[in-house]
Amino acid sequence: MCGIIGYIGKKDAIPLVLNGLKNLEYRGYDSAGIGAIVNGELIVKKDVGKIDEVFSKINISSIGSNITIGHTRWATHGKVTKENAHPHTDCKNEIAIVHNGIIENYQELKKELISKGHVLKSETDSEIIAHLIEEEMKQRNFEDAFKKAIEKLKGSYAIVAINKNEKEMMGARKESPLVVGVSEDGYFIASDVPSFLDETKRVIYLYDGDVVVINNEIKIFNKGVEVKREIDSIEWDAEQAKKGVFKHFMLKEISEQAEVVKKAIMQDEKIIKEIVNAIKNAKGVYFVGCGTAYHACLEGSYIFSKVAKTHVNVCYAHEFPNYVHFLTPESLVIAISQSGETADTLAAIRAAKEKGAKVMSIVNVAGSTLVRESDKVLLQHAGPEICVLSTKSYTSQLTILVMLAYALVDKLDEAKSKLKELIRYIYYLTSKNTQEYIKKLAEKLKDARDIYLIGRDLQYPTALEAALKIKEVSYIHAEGFAGGELKHGNIALIEKGTPCIIFTSKENEEGIIANASELKARGAYVIGVGPRNSEVFDFFIKVRGAEEANSIVQIIPIQILAYQLAILRGLDPDRPRNLAKSVTVK
Ligand code: F6R
Repeated sequence: MCGIIGYIGKKDAIPLVLNGLKNLEYRGYDSAGIGAIVNGELIVKKDVGKIDEVFSKINISSIGSNITIGHTRWATHGKVTKENAHPHTDCKNEIAIVHNGIIENYQELKKELISKGHVLKSETDSEIIAHLIEEEMKQRNFEDAFKKAIEKLKGSYAIVAINKNEKEMMGARKESPLVVGVSEDGYFIASDVPSFLDETKRVIYLYDGDVVVINNEIKIFNKGVEVKREIDSIEWDAEQAKKGVFKHFMLKEISEQAEVVKKAIMQDEKIIKEIVNAIKNAKGVYFVGCGTAYHACLEGSYIFSKVAKTHVNVCYAHEFPNYVHFLTPESLVIAISQSGETADTLAAIRAAKEKGAKVMSIVNVAGSTLVRESDKVLLQHAGPEICVLSTKSYTSQLTILVMLAYALVDKLDEAKSKLKELIRYIYYLTSKNTQEYIKKLAEKLKDARDIYLIGRDLQYPTALEAALKIKEVSYIHAEGFAGGELKHGNIALIEKGTPCIIFTSKENEEGIIANASELKARGAYVIGVGPRNSEVFDFFIKVRGAEEANSIVQIIPIQILAYQLAILRGLDPDRPRNLAKSVTVK
């Protein structure tokens, strides 16, 4: 969940690493730091705060370096303090490391290191890595000491290390993402591609267990043996990973959804057919994902049922271990993930593979671990999603699920033309006009204590996703309910003025309007989202009916509402508290 980056090469490394860190800030922003080798000395600057705050306090512009590492932190072990910020160093301040992940055996390693006289300065699990390398260097060179130290670690890690006495940079990964950027004048090692997209689009995706050694050349090892890894070319360009005219990535990404749906429609039909055949032949299909991706899974199960009369099981990836007993080589697991790096989702597919099940996935990030570990992949092509909140990746996932459902009954072309018809409408839904209209609602709701979101059938997952969007960015308590559940307990929460957002559709109008009336009778402030206004609504957001694709269009006004609520409450929508984009730890 932290962002790490290192650069070694001919260019001035510090500005490159700082720029890279800014591009990685979505991975964590509790504290930040850099470690640079300058004239044979190791200089470490780090502090608590967001990257701009940290580096505005430190004058580093005049320092020239060709080897620098950087880190932006999302705290797991140890409080948010300067000491716990990365890079961490060894006793002699010669070795510096940055780490993302969790070292599970750090207590035991720490004890061992202390018994050998090492003095640790932080509460983190990460610091021990620098001391382990130092300890190993008593007997071997930096490269071999790094490899030996890595062998001792249990848990998950992406690590970059430097040594003030060597013109070298080391990297290693296990269950945490790490990629190498290859530029004309040097190399980057980083958590994610956007960090170095300004400099190069050439990338080497490291595999689990890879150790990379960069000096005059690059060498990659796995299990002690040198291996070859291809250089890939990134389809994203640097501009896509920038805010451009938008104030925030969240608004930019919401506004990109018409284009994103268009790109999602352009899937390779051969892969769609292969996945459809696998679904037809499987004995038991499971959709797995977390957070927003889980909501896409749930929505997908409704769409599959409605369009293709096909049953799929839906499970949070982290709960999936409860289902593995039912898996056989004839089972099919379909994982959905924007990043392709979510630790829980990866653990779920690995458990499935152990049982011999087939794994297919819907992923946005090419080259991610999920892509590599799946038998078949549908890439979303949604472009980089930088805001911590998933917006465009959700609508893109739903688009693909609609296509798969139609393809199951040989109607892929029908799905495509239905979805294409929606594109122009999505432009309208994300337009300034819609934003202005929704701002009026945000002004009414900005001080609400709770907001409830209610839907039936296909609109139930929409209600769950809408609640997640509101709560994670505005910190207003928001909860999604199925309309049918209201009277089984939840309606007790309704007081005079409680805002309730109701998602309606032509197909379930009667039932959901009955729910809306029950809420209104208890004093709720009722907001309708759907094709037809009703006298029961105090506020109405018209969203044209789109049948199985309703969820694609109905979520958009609520994404905008969530954004507006954050702005009106003085919050940064791109960096909600306590959250980070890729949840690469369990
Ligand atoms: C919510 C959000 C998270 C992610 C979840 C899964 O806005 O972004 O709930 O959806 O962490 O992430 P991916 O899709 O990368 O597996």
